[in-house]
Amino acid sequence: MAQDEWSAVDAYIVGKLLSQDPVFEAALERNRAAGLPPIDVSPAQGKLLHLLARLVGARNILEIGTLGGYSTLWFARALPLDGRIVTLEFSPIHAAVALENIQAAGEGAKVDLRVGPALDTLPLLEQDGVPFDLVFIDADKRNNPDYLRWALRLARVGALIVIDNVVRGGRVLDPASDDPDIIGTRRFFEIAGEEKRWSATAIQTVGAKGWDGFALAIVEQN
Ligand SMILES: C[S@@+](CC[C@H](N)C(=O)[O-])C[C@H]1O[C@@H](n2cnc3c(N)ncnc32)[C@H](O)[C@@H]1O
Repeated sequence: MAQDEWSAVDAYIVGKLLSQDPVFEAALERNRAAGLPPIDVSPAQGKLLHLLARLVGARNILEIGTLGGYSTLWFARALPLDGRIVTLEFSPIHAAVALENIQAAGEGAKVDLRVGPALDTLPLLEQDGVPFDLVFIDADKRNNPDYLRWALRLARVGALIVIDNVVRGGRVLDPASDDPDIIGTRRFFEIAGEEKRWSATAIQTVGAKGWDGFALAIVEQN
């Protein structure tokens, strides 16, 4: 199977299983118009994140890596009216587009968007003292080992942690890679495998976004 076929199957799945919500297409269109890179989760992945948030009854979600807020909106739609998602974004340009998307979707009350390098904004969340029910890690992969440590620190026991892009077209297998994102991903797997405070797995995926995968874990102790 090649990319065209993976994309066609994704389109079939989306056509059959995802109801038409103009908010999501409008967000992707705004991202395109603003020149943001098309590295948001796919629609089917967005729906998966939405379902996972509902499965764990999430009221407090932490997202690392907002881009234009596409995945943020899938999460926001899963939250109760008094739920919140804190989403962390390095780029003020991406954050400005995300804010537009969030406001246009009518989800402003649920979304707390913080701009800056996540390793600077994460420590501030500790002061809030509200543990997260779900953490989605989808920013610069080189920092995934640190994001994993923060996720374990900020999430409640029983929380779900989702880490995107852990396969990267199979390049995760290359021990000689000098790509910092591959090095970070491989280091993430090493730490994740040794970590006793959570139970984790990873799933490979193919689809509109190519060959990649995500890791899932439940926090058992923190
Ligand atoms: C893959 S995109 C996020 C996609 C988004 N979760 C979605 O599916 O719609 C990664 C984002 O992380 C941001 N980012 C990169 N390094 C970061 C850092 N150190 N701290 C916070 N955000 C960062 C990038 O600017 C980019 O917008």
